[in-house]
This record gives sequence, C-alpha cells and structure tokens, in this order.
Amino acid sequence: MATSASPSVVDLEKQFLLQNYARYPLVLHRGKGCYVYDTSGKRYLDLIAGIGVNALGYAHPRLTKVIREQAGLLLHTSNLYYHEYQGPLAERIARVSGLDRVFFCNSGAEAMEGALKMARSHGRKISPEKIEVVALENSFHGRTFGALSITGQEKYRRDFEPLVPGARFVPRNDLAALEQVVGERTAAIVFELVQGEGGIYPVSAEYARQARELADRHNALLIFDEIQCGVGRPGTYFSYQMFNPIVMPDVMVAAKPIACGIPLGVIVAKEPAAAALGAGMHGSTFGGGPLACRVALEFFDILEPLLPHIVDTGGYFRVRLTDLAKRYSFIKEIRGFGLMIGVELDIPGKQIVLDAMDEGLLLNCTHETVLRMLPPYILTEQDVERAIAVLNKIFKRR
Ligand SMILES: Cc1ncc(COP(=O)(O)O)c(C=O)c1O
Repeated sequence: MATSASPSVVDLEKQFLLQNYARYPLVLHRGKGCYVYDTSGKRYLDLIAGIGVNALGYAHPRLTKVIREQAGLLLHTSNLYYHEYQGPLAERIARVSGLDRVFFCNSGAEAMEGALKMARSHGRKISPEKIEVVALENSFHGRTFGALSITGQEKYRRDFEPLVPGARFVPRNDLAALEQVVGERTAAIVFELVQGEGGIYPVSAEYARQARELADRHNALLIFDEIQCGVGRPGTYFSYQMFNPIVMPDVMVAAKPIACGIPLGVIVAKEPAAAALGAGMHGSTFGGGPLACRVALEFFDILEPLLPHIVDTGGYFRVRLTDLAKRYSFIKEIRGFGLMIGVELDIPGKQIVLDAMDEGLLLNCTHETVLRMLPPYILTEQDVERAIAVLNKIFKRR
C-alpha cells in the first residue's frame, strides 16, 4: 500500500507520543476545498474531513482571511474581560437554535461535561437523589469521566471504572424501556439524534417526542448531543429541527464544525436550565476566545445559504450509494441525513478504507462494518461521482 509517512515523523511519534491512536500511514501537508495533499503531493478527496470538523473544507478564503486578520489583533483574552465576538456569536446561536443562553468551551467532551454539571445542579436543587442520567446504548459522548459515564459502549468504559455514578442505559427507540427507566430520580435524558460513532443510527421522531414528554413529566432536562450530527450537517442547523414538529431540548451541546477547525464547543440552554449554572459554578480559560468566535461567526454567515446544498448533495450521494448497493450484495444498508452518511457492510470495512486511501479517497470505518462519511458541506455532485467511481473500483475486487 502507498504511504506518504516519512520515517522520521513516524519514528518520533512512536518514541515520544502516547500510543493511544492507531494512525493511518499518511502525513498530510495542505488542503484546498474538499481535497487534501500528503507530503509527497498526492491528492485525496476527503470524505471524513477531520471527523466532521472541516465543514468548509480546507483553506476556505473567507476563513483564512478572518483568521489572518484576527491573529494580528487578539488571539486570547481569557474570560476576565469582554471581547467583540462572544456576544454576537451567542446571539446568533441562540437565534438559530431557538434556545436562550450559550456557554463556550473547547471541545465536544468539555461541552458534555458542562451539560452534565448543569443536569446535576438542576437535579440537586429538587432532591439529593435526583442525579440519574438516562442515556442510550451504543452512544458516544466523549472521553472525559462524565461524558464516558454516559457513553453506552463497554469498550470505551471498561478500563476506567468506576465512573461517575447515576448513568442508566436504554436501547435506542424503545419507548417502553424509556418510560420504565425515567422517573423522579432522573436529572436528565441525553442522546444523539443520529448516533455517529455508534454507526449512523437515527433516533425516531416518536422516541424524541416521548423523551420530551417524560422529561417534562419528571422535571428532568432533555439534552441533545449535536456534536457530530448537528451544526448544519443534517441540512438544518441542528438535527432536532429535522422533525416536524420540532422537538426542542432544554440543553444542546455542539462542537466539531462550529469553528471549522479552531477548537470551540458550546452548551446552549433554555433559560431555566441555564440558571442551574450560576456565578462561579463553571468556567474555561480558553473557552470562547476571539479567534474561535470570530471564525464561527463567519462560518454561520456562510452556512445559512449552504443548508439547501447540504440536503441536495447528501440526497444525491445516498441515491448513488443505493445504486452501488444494487450491484454489491455485501452492502446491507445506506443510512443518514444530509452529509452524515453510513454504509453498512456485511464484511469488515478496514481494508476498504485502506484501499480507498490508496486510490485517493479518505473515509473512515466505525463499528467494524460501517463506512462513515462526514464530508465538507461544500462537496459537489462531481465530487460524489468521483467517490462513487473509487468505491465501485474497490468493491469490484471483492
Ligand atoms: C456525538 C459525540 N459526542 C461527543 C464527542 C466528543 O467530542 P470531542 O472529541 O470534541 O471531545 C464526539 C466525538 O466524536 C461525538 O461524536
């Protein structure tokens, strides 16, 4: 297999880095639009885009411009002072989400930690026993202790137990199980509306509505994790807006694409939930710095007119993948919304990912058999055709 990994880079990492990542043998050097180039100059169409972060691809001219400008003005202020961009970005996020207040941090897991603190504080104001968090089996919410505690996959949790107490897991879309578990001790119900790491599995509108109803009945917070499935990826701003009527959460967390590669996470809450984190109860040194906030504002300006394109291109991609599925019986199912796509195989996906890389196409495999695509929102039908041609070539060899 072709590799661009220069021995010195690989050797240095082997010697000096924690060995927690299993990297592909590829050293990336630069990118433009939906394409990245390795250090040998080989070009790749990138359908995984930094695991859903590079929403506008690489070197977007408007983002490059504001990053350059802001780097010469202010990179960091701390939250001791105001800067010009947090307020306007918070207003923008509140407006597009339909929620009231925003907290800025640096990653998905950090956002989830804050949301869990919000839930704990909300519950404890009612009763010291109200500390349970109901989450879904097969979910993924991050690697920190709190987020891991509500991640419903044993393989991520087992080496770190005991975790934060109070997590209860239920199967996705099982209304009776949810009804049975949610009660007076429930501080929050948390889920992704489309499980990402778990293999692109959606939650039904009926289930989301039932969760809303149960949260209201038991005075618990309904928290949606929009870190992978939100912020434009479904073709709406957030995935809860795909339902008709919309199912509103009390709290929503987002991260990944929100500042297109500059770390930024958000907790967005309705007024009563937001009040659970009062003065001095939470904070983040780097959270919501001027660079990240300014880039995110620019991104939201670009995103609004892009939303219909995400729906169209995602739909087109799924149609073309369905055509492939008719030709290859090992393709079991095509799932997803907008530009969040899973192709379930009944053979292992790992070698397909490596073969695709050889052919200049980057994608990823989750849960052993699900090819996962989280491409940039600027993907075109022409790019889709290129991806389909590569996949067809690889599948033919199977
Ligand atoms: C749904 C979901 N929640 C939380 C996280 C954790 O985000 P981060 O890696 O930024 O901490 C991820 C990351 O993949 C995710 O997909």
